[in-house]
Amino acid sequence: MSASRDRIARPSLPDGFDDSRARERADDPTGWRFSDPERAAVWRAIAERRDIRRFRPDPLPDELLLRLLEAAHQAPSVGLMQPWRFVVVRSEETRAAMQAIALRERLRQGESFDGRAREFLALKLEGIREAPLSLCVCCDRGADDEEVLGRHTIRDADIYSTCLAIENLWLAARAEGVGVGWVSFYRAEDVQDLLGLPARVVPVAWLCVGYPDERPVRPGLEAAGWGRRLPLDELVFVERWGRSLDTRRAPARRTDGPESEPAALPEWWRRLASAVRPGDPVAALRVRDASDDLVKPTGSLGALETLAEQFGLVTGAPPPATPRAGVLVLAADHGIAARGVSLYPSSVSAQVAAAAARGETAIGVLARALGAELVVADVGLAGPRPRGVLDRRVAEGSADMSVGPALEPAMLQQAVETGYELASDLAARCDMLLVGEIGIGNTTAASALLSALTGLPATETCGRGTGIDAQMLLRKQELVATALAVNGLPAAGDPLECLRRVGGLELAALAGALLGAAAARRPVLLDGFATGVVALAAYRTVPALRDYLVAGHRSAEPAHARVLVELGLEPLLDLRLRLGEASGAALALPLVGLAGRLHAEMARFDEANVERAKGMA
Ligand SMILES: Cc1cc2nc3c(=O)[nH]c(=O)nc-3n(C[C@H](O)[C@H](O)[C@H](O)COP(=O)(O)O)c2cc1C
Repeated sequence: MSASRDRIARPSLPDGFDDSRARERADDPTGWRFSDPERAAVWRAIAERRDIRRFRPDPLPDELLLRLLEAAHQAPSVGLMQPWRFVVVRSEETRAAMQAIALRERLRQGESFDGRAREFLALKLEGIREAPLSLCVCCDRGADDEEVLGRHTIRDADIYSTCLAIENLWLAARAEGVGVGWVSFYRAEDVQDLLGLPARVVPVAWLCVGYPDERPVRPGLEAAGWGRRLPLDELVFVERWGRSLDTRRAPARRTDGPESEPAALPEWWRRLASAVRPGDPVAALRVRDASDDLVKPTGSLGALETLAEQFGLVTGAPPPATPRAGVLVLAADHGIAARGVSLYPSSVSAQVAAAAARGETAIGVLARALGAELVVADVGLAGPRPRGVLDRRVAEGSADMSVGPALEPAMLQQAVETGYELASDLAARCDMLLVGEIGIGNTTAASALLSALTGLPATETCGRGTGIDAQMLLRKQELVATALAVNGLPAAGDPLECLRRVGGLELAALAGALLGAAAARRPVLLDGFATGVVALAAYRTVPALRDYLVAGHRSAEPAHARVLVELGLEPLLDLRLRLGEASGAALALPLVGLAGRLHAEMARFDEANVERAKGMA
């Protein structure tokens, strides 16, 4: 910021908002903690909370009960669902009925303990009638089809949330000297009947609550010799199941899951992949800290801020204001094209590549308009070599994947290595790479590859490509299904093998290009469906690659959306493009430069003026 510019005081936020500063948080990351005595009290409540089974009859003040319920109600919950419901039971009659249920279930369980039955029956496991009140903590599970944020894959997350509410109440009760005893000897339907709970409401816990008539210092079951607290280091693994914290110790006792070995990938691929290092999250944080200082509400530049952070992650700095961009367009032909899956014959691939190199196709125009360096390379076209196109041909197109593998192993390796070299060369002159492809029939290959990688049926991975009609789409789907069956996919293939069997030369070269760019620590703007599927295949074997990938756009090819979800990438643009050639990536390029300019040129809040601003508020 120039010295002559007026300094802008950061306005303070109203109560209820996070008014901390990025710099403050960076200078003292521990600054959110409690004072020493407060922390000691929290730790004490955790260590000295006990399950209580003996109670005094003295009633609990209503006000105290309410505060305990407030503690429960402050628990975290999935999607802020707050599924907990509390039934306060004081009725002697109901508690007696509940005790009868618990005693019956206790005896039933006793029968299944065989050797330890006598020991089990000697334990006191409930205080339902002694305690002046019971709390039935329930979970309202809602309708089965109700979509709750965060409960999409884990249906029981609402039950977990309810348990957290119970723990909150339990800890607060301990601090207040109130005893809580959890009883789980019941069948849900019995409690549902007893309390008139609707079917969707599950009783998670029956809690006996009152002043304790015991003050145990350790768990009752431990005192009774039923069990003991396990050493923590037997329960903590490092990075993978079974790897003990203490490296000197043999594998921890509780190892019942074998370590799954990653699929054996060829040595040449592993060599290229090993050059791709994960980004630096600390550098990303530095960029975010700096973004938070700009004169704007925190996070208000949305995806542009994410983009700036991603550049930080990968390059250590926000995007340059005028990034030097290199566009790499790889061209090849596909044997499958002879089966009529496109509106155009294979010969068109070479013509388009030549026109692109002359700057006459969409990418030619866009690269010129954006001042980007365009490299169009033939990595596997068939027939005469197109003029002006960089000749790095690996083979005369790929084989027809509906009768056998698209590529021989040596072709796959050569194509990948070619793409890697092309990207490495270009990366040396550029801040970032844009990748795209030309190849009649390559959306069919990309669809097959996506099916192979994800198990999705051809009907969900095939789209209209160049604009085929419904009948051709049907043929395309059938051919993809055949190609998968003939090549033993998806069952028999690691991602690289999928790429070999149903990919293509430009797709393989693109995989290499992604690795080459990432190895040079250059972010990559992906184009549409084909580049996305290749990125997915490469990412599945090289997880660090994802740090480098930016989705330029979401294309009109329906399965592209699915690819982006699998990659976990949000597209910058959605313009219904379906052209390929890196044209969508190119259209997104200005956003990268603008994100960089905003980061570099916006004024920063004058922290010195903050207090004055607060005083005015
Ligand atoms: C899900 C759950 C169900 C429990 N059910 C019973 C029960 O039916 N009867 C009982 O006496 N204690 C029950 N307890 C209490 C545990 O036995 C007790 O928490 C454990 O032995 C450790 O003791 P502490 O809570 O005093 O640390 C339950 C605890 C949990 C978390």
